[in-house]
Amino acid sequence: MNRTQSAELFARSRQVIAGGVVSLNRKVEPEIAFVKGRGSRLWDADGNEYIDYHAAFGPYLLGHNDPEVEEAVRRAAESGWTLTGSGTTPWEARAAELLVQCVPNLEKVQFTNTGSEANALACRLARAHTGRDHLVVMQGGYNGWHDEVACNVMTPLDQVGPRVIQGEYPFVPLSAGIPQGTAERVHVVNYNSLEALEWVFSQYPVAALLSEPILQNIGVVKPKPGYLQGIRELCDRYGVVWIMDEVKTGFRHALGGYQSVAGVRPDLSVFGKAIANGYPVGAVAGNEEIMALFHADDPKKRVLIAGTYNGHPIPLAAAIATMERLQRDQDTVYAQLEERAKVLADGLTEVFREKGITTAISRQGSAFALYFMDHEPEDWHDLAGNHDMAKDLRFRQALIENGVYFFPLPTKQCSVSTAHSEADVAETVERTREVVAKGF
Ligand SMILES: Cc1ncc(COP(=O)(O)O)c(C=O)c1O
Repeated sequence: MNRTQSAELFARSRQVIAGGVVSLNRKVEPEIAFVKGRGSRLWDADGNEYIDYHAAFGPYLLGHNDPEVEEAVRRAAESGWTLTGSGTTPWEARAAELLVQCVPNLEKVQFTNTGSEANALACRLARAHTGRDHLVVMQGGYNGWHDEVACNVMTPLDQVGPRVIQGEYPFVPLSAGIPQGTAERVHVVNYNSLEALEWVFSQYPVAALLSEPILQNIGVVKPKPGYLQGIRELCDRYGVVWIMDEVKTGFRHALGGYQSVAGVRPDLSVFGKAIANGYPVGAVAGNEEIMALFHADDPKKRVLIAGTYNGHPIPLAAAIATMERLQRDQDTVYAQLEERAKVLADGLTEVFREKGITTAISRQGSAFALYFMDHEPEDWHDLAGNHDMAKDLRFRQALIENGVYFFPLPTKQCSVSTAHSEADVAETVERTREVVAKGF
C-alpha cells in the first residue's frame, strides 16, 4: 500500500510531538496516519481503506461516528450546552441516571474524562474507606497509566519469573519515573488464582483489589468458573474493596456490565470507553456507603474529586445518546454483536484449520483474540509461554496490508461493532484467507 502521506504526517508530528504520537500505546508498525472513520471502516491519509477491528482500543461499540451519537453531539453544541464550571447541569444528571439504570449494581456515580482517572479515584476511595494503603492488581491486567497501576501487563517472563500461585510477582513498572515506594504497596498476583489473592490479602493491609473481570489487554483471558464469586468472598473476608475495572468490558458485553453477565457485585466499578462510543468519559461508581466519601462531612474523611472538564457536555451528550440507544435496542444490539462475532470467529478458525495452522480463538461476545496456540489461555504465563508472538505480529501486519486493521501488537483484542455488517465479516474472512494462502 502507498503510505506517502502517512509518512509525511509522521515526519511532521515528530518535529513537534515528543515521540511523534500522543499515547505511547499507539506506537506501532506499520506507521499509518488515519484521517477518517465511519461505521466499520477507517481511511488513512493516502486514501487506503480498512475494515477496522481495533475500534481505537475498544470504545466504538456502535462503530465510528455513529449517526445517532453524532446527531446528539451536534444538537448539544447548537443548543448552547457549555462547560459551566459551577454547580451541576441537566446533562450530568441525565447521564448519571442512565448509568445507574443500566448497571443495577450502582447506587451513585461520578464522572471523569478517562478510565485512568476513574481508576485512580476508585483507589483513593478504597484507601479512604479502609484506612489501608496497599493495592492488588493482576499480572496481565491494565488499569491505566497512573503511577500505582502502570505495571505488569505483557511482562517478559524473564522479568516476572515463573507462575506464582501462592505469592506475588515483582512489580515491573511500565514507565520510568514511578517512585520506588510504589512497589512496596502494590502487589501483582496471578489472574485466575484465588490462592494468590488469599496469600496477598493475608500478608498485607490491602485496601483494594483492582482488576478487569476479563483480561482484555492481553486479548481475551476469561475468568474460570467460580473465580469472580471467589474474589467476592475473599474481599468480604478480608475487608478489601473490590474495584472491578469495566473500562473495556462495561457495555461491550452487556448493558449491566460484565458484572451482570457473571452475576457478581463489586464494591466499586469503573467505566470508560464504550459508555460514550468514542468520546472521553470515565465513571467511577458503586455503593452508597463508599461513594458518600466524596461528600463526607468530616474533611479528614472526604475524598477529593476535581477536574475542570469533568462532566463536559459534549462527551456527556455522546454518553447519553449511547446509553439511550443501548437501553432501547438492548436485545437486538447484543444479539447482533454475538452473532456477527461468532460468524467471524468461526470463519477465521476454519481458514487456519484448512491450512493446518494451530489457533485458538478466545471470545466473549463482540471481543475476541486469535492466539497461535492450541488452547485459550487462562493467564499471562499460559499465554506468554505458548502463544507465538512473532507469528501473531506478522499475521496482523499482513492483514493490514490486505485492508483489515487488527492492531499490530501481539495478543491485542479485536472488537466487532454494530456497524460491522454480514458483508464486512465475510470480506474479513476472505481477506484473511488470502493472507494465509500467501503465507506470513
Ligand atoms: C481495562 C482498562 N482500564 C483502564 C484503562 C485506562 O483508560 P484510559 O485510557 O481512558 O485512561 C484502559 C485503557 O485501555 C483499560 O483497557
